[in-house]
Amino acid sequence: MIAIILGTRPEIIKMSPIIRACEALGEDYFTLHTGQHYSYEMDRTFFEDLELPQPEYNLDVGSGTHAEQTGKIMTGIEKVLLEKKPGVVLVQGDTNTVLAGALAASKLHIKVGHVEAGLRSFDRRMPEEINRIVADHISDMLFPPTETAKKNLIGEGILEEKIFVTGNTVVDAVEQNLAIAQRKGDLLQQLGLTAKGFFLVTAHRAENVDNKQRLEGILQGLEAIRNEFSLPIVFPMHPRTAKMVQAFGLSLDGICITKPLGYLDFLQLEANARLVLTDSGGLQEESCILGVPCVTLRDNTERPETVEVGANVLAGATSDVILNCVREKLEQHRVWTNPFGDGRAGKRIIKEIFKCF
Ligand code: UD1
Ligand code: UDP
Repeated sequence: MIAIILGTRPEIIKMSPIIRACEALGEDYFTLHTGQHYSYEMDRTFFEDLELPQPEYNLDVGSGTHAEQTGKIMTGIEKVLLEKKPGVVLVQGDTNTVLAGALAASKLHIKVGHVEAGLRSFDRRMPEEINRIVADHISDMLFPPTETAKKNLIGEGILEEKIFVTGNTVVDAVEQNLAIAQRKGDLLQQLGLTAKGFFLVTAHRAENVDNKQRLEGILQGLEAIRNEFSLPIVFPMHPRTAKMVQAFGLSLDGICITKPLGYLDFLQLEANARLVLTDSGGLQEESCILGVPCVTLRDNTERPETVEVGANVLAGATSDVILNCVREKLEQHRVWTNPFGDGRAGKRIIKEIFKCF
């Protein structure tokens, strides 16, 4: 039996092709939601949009410090694993849910599979980098999306026989949902937007939004873009960012702020944006897959493939650099190859697990 552990927005989206593959292949599995994300628009909306079955367990851990959240998740997961005794636990990505799930399972000698293994920003100040490294080193099966990610794992001494390059399940998710999003979505119309006639922004990374200077730099960059291009800037705002904008007393004048959006609405905006500005890992990948240029509001990325193919550029959080990067990206043509696979990663992962165990 496979235990699929998830807890945040990107994990629900990127695990959805794996859940679908389990259903399609008649695999014995159950889903455990840690409750790291819990607001309707960060959680339930994705189960509705992606038509996923309700998780069998929800730990409802909510927000907290890193240790509080990780500890609560580990305690909750351990109980469920002792009761259900799955053969394999699958975690995806780099959140506290991943760290806690992988640790709890490995201490019970349950096999751990890490989906999206091997990503490295080489910046250990990021909580995500710590989570990735620990999860990779205690996993029994590692599913890096690309050869670059595999090389990172080999470089850290992880045995090649545990590593299976599968592509990223985000390609499966985009392919499975884009046509539905384009057909069903009417958010473009509702917001009065035209195809390629607006910029789409997201930012939620702790090192950006919890730091007043960086958050201010990003917002000033958006103002400079609006002044130069006179196009709408749409910013579906993560709750962490909304909280910090308020705490720092920053102005959002001139920006179209929305709540975090459901996946279908968001994909429709992303596919139709002139350009994406983001610090999100998932958006760097999706914009690359969708052929939309991306300016990344960070100093490094664990998705270097997006930069190498010409889809993405690193801008940091300084207003004039952000504006220059937008200018540069808008001048380049929008054709590149998708480095993240063929959209069959979900099935490939389930088949590899079946072969090994
Ligand atoms: C987490 C992950 C990050 C991932 C992101 C995806 C960690 C360390 N961070 O960051 O890697 O990119 O999810 O979105 O695991 N909040 C709500 N409602 C929610 C969830 C959060 O209001 O449903 C607010 C709370 O004020 C909370 C804050 O957002 O304190 C941060 O939430 P948390 O889960 O700690 O981290 P994220 O920033 O969401
Ligand atoms: N996303 C969404 N609605 C939004 C913002 C993002 O559905 O308002 C999706 C986006 O398409 C991508 C995922 O959420 O698949 C990225 O999640 P996030 O940026 O929170 O986390 P990260 O990828 O940085 O870990």
